Amino acid sequence: MRIGGIVLKNPLILAPMAGITNLAFRLAAKRMGAGLVCSEMVSANGLVRESKRTGELLATAAAERPLSIQIFGSEPAYMAEAAALVCEAGADIVDINFGCSVKKVVKIGAGAALMREPARCRAILEAVRKRLSIPLTIKIRSGWDASGDEARLLCRIAQECGVDAVAVHPRTARQGFAGRADRSLIADLKRTLSIPVIGNGDVTTAQEALAMMGETGCDGVMIGRAAARNPWIFAQALDLLEGREERRVSLEERARLMASCLDDTAALLGERRAWPMMRSQLSAFSKGLPGAGTFREAVMRAKTVEDARSAVVLYLSRLSGEDGGGAP
Ligand SMILES: Cc1cc2nc3c(=O)[nH]c(=O)nc-3n(C[C@H](O)[C@H](O)[C@H](O)COP(=O)(O)O)c2cc1C
Repeated sequence: MRIGGIVLKNPLILAPMAGITNLAFRLAAKRMGAGLVCSEMVSANGLVRESKRTGELLATAAAERPLSIQIFGSEPAYMAEAAALVCEAGADIVDINFGCSVKKVVKIGAGAALMREPARCRAILEAVRKRLSIPLTIKIRSGWDASGDEARLLCRIAQECGVDAVAVHPRTARQGFAGRADRSLIADLKRTLSIPVIGNGDVTTAQEALAMMGETGCDGVMIGRAAARNPWIFAQALDLLEGREERRVSLEERARLMASCLDDTAALLGERRAWPMMRSQLSAFSKGLPGAGTFREAVMRAKTVEDARSAVVLYLSRLSGEDGGGAP
């Protein structure tokens, strides 16, 4: 799959997730084979005003490239400036959030709120496109009603403005995460657009990633919540895409990933910055495994990367007695 001038190694894409897809997690997804990783959303206003907290979200590393950094905001001039800043910070692709429906984002007229304002969408896309020479993508929802008309209009505008690909999470803004993603909208957009369409929503297994491509004809599949629990989903889907049997993930592999995530992030960012990032990841990686609750408590109590390493080692040594040969 190609996004502008960037050829992805495969069409499996890590979805942007606030609080989850930080540098540590992106490196893990990359190691598991993701063809593209996306940062969590970063506030354009925060970037332009040089907020320290926002700047921290921009930690990147060569090993995760190609990297897409997502920005959100509602002012064309700020968005253009922010796009230039994330490009300088190491983004290979800039993504604009048109889908976030959480109150604090919608309240400032950003994210999904923009799907009701096509003229403002055009102004943002024109301003950002003019400022950027790297690929530009957008991530959208169906809109505010289930018809998908707002999505169709926004995609048409995006294509006219020189956007290089669109990722579609086909739920309405009001739906949040309720109900099922309506994949027929992805298929519909794929039929009508000439730019690549990335399907997103409710892919929980490797088989479903392939099913999404088969059902909709989409060029790429973006995986969010399932990857947060199981970053191996990329390796498993690649197995299927390349005609191999889907791998089972042994406890040893889980152990290696948890430990290497901790070490990589500490090496890149220093232990003090690395540890808060790793907290949620370690908990997520253990989800569904026996004794995960006790492990999560130990992780939450840990104050340093070293404490966390000990918790991982202890947990895994307990688990190894119960290893049935592989967790899904
Ligand atoms: C915790 C969490 C944080 C998210 N943060 C973002 C975000 O920063 N930007 C964005 O475009 N979407 C965000 N999303 C939406 C996901 O990218 C994705 O569209 C959605 O989860 C549906 O895909 P899934 O069913 O594979 O999880 C977030 C989702 C979750 C669960």
